[in-house]
Amino acid sequence: MSVKWELPPTLKWENDKLLLIDQTRLPEELVFIECSIPQEVAECIKTMKVRGAPAIGVAAAFGMFLSIKDFEGDVDLLFEKLEETAELLRSTRPTAYNLFWAIERMLQRARDMQGEETGKAKEALFEEAMRMWEEDIEVNRAIGRNGSRFIKDGANVLTICNAGSLATVWFGTALGIIRSAIEEGKKIHVYACETRPRLQGILTVFELLEDNIPVTLITDFMAGYLMSKGKVDVVVTGADRVARNGDVANKIGTYTLAVLAKSHDIPFIVAAPLSSIDINIATGADIPIEEREKEEVLSIKGKRLITEDVDVINPAFDVTPSRLITAIVTERGVCSPPFEESVPAIFHKQGGR
Ligand code: MRU
Repeated sequence: MSVKWELPPTLKWENDKLLLIDQTRLPEELVFIECSIPQEVAECIKTMKVRGAPAIGVAAAFGMFLSIKDFEGDVDLLFEKLEETAELLRSTRPTAYNLFWAIERMLQRARDMQGEETGKAKEALFEEAMRMWEEDIEVNRAIGRNGSRFIKDGANVLTICNAGSLATVWFGTALGIIRSAIEEGKKIHVYACETRPRLQGILTVFELLEDNIPVTLITDFMAGYLMSKGKVDVVVTGADRVARNGDVANKIGTYTLAVLAKSHDIPFIVAAPLSSIDINIATGADIPIEEREKEEVLSIKGKRLITEDVDVINPAFDVTPSRLITAIVTERGVCSPPFEESVPAIFHKQGGR
């Protein structure tokens, strides 16, 4: 079935600038913000104007290119400049592996160009960022095709945060699986957890409404109630970083959903591109978890709930141990338990990334 999906790409290169949908202004208005220098890209990542692991990875790749776009010196100095920008971009958010993967891929391309003319190196780096942009859409499409088998016709699917088009260049990972199932003619209904404190569930609802996909917004702690009533057939989430043993860091609350899903015998599916797999990290215990500012918890949509003197914690992610996961869907295929075997196997198949 051919379906027209409504959202434009989350980021695009236009007139020598990186344009990003400003996600902090959704759902009220869909506007693009322009970045001409890497500092602006870094700021957009930090403040979550652009968010979602694959989207921040591709944004960072263009941020790297922006730092050398007008550079005229020799290639050695160009490399130094890129190293500096890499430092800046790496310091924005610690958990999503795609950010580090994308920066390293740009640095590697620059290393490959040592000894070439500056103009040629710049061209190669631009092409690399563009390739990552294009690949991200292909990867999401492939994750969708590989994952749609987990969604039966008529299914009620529960998701958290936003692992949709907005979290990627386009199409989405977890929502990509849902979109693919719909393209196959299946009727799907989605429960979207609102995802306190940053409310990315609202972005999910916005996306699904744009595409006429039936969706019900719930607060995060309604998930267990719905499961106990038999109203959830499958949970599908994204991933920010996957360890070698299949433990998954994703939005805070994901672990709670996985425990609940296990207790109700509901399949728990993680959609993750290979660029989210950190093969050098043995278990989820080694994944750095971002701690964000307390104001995000103290307020809702700019309205302060209580005095700032109150103690607050605000971890942006949690780790779901692989024993709670039914499958990890990548663009290269599906990993099943035992994940300590299937994750490295899929990662290294055809020579890794
Ligand atoms: O803090 P965010 O909004 O960047 O967190 C995003 C998530 O947790 C997503 O589930 C994850 O990045 C996967 S997006 C395809």
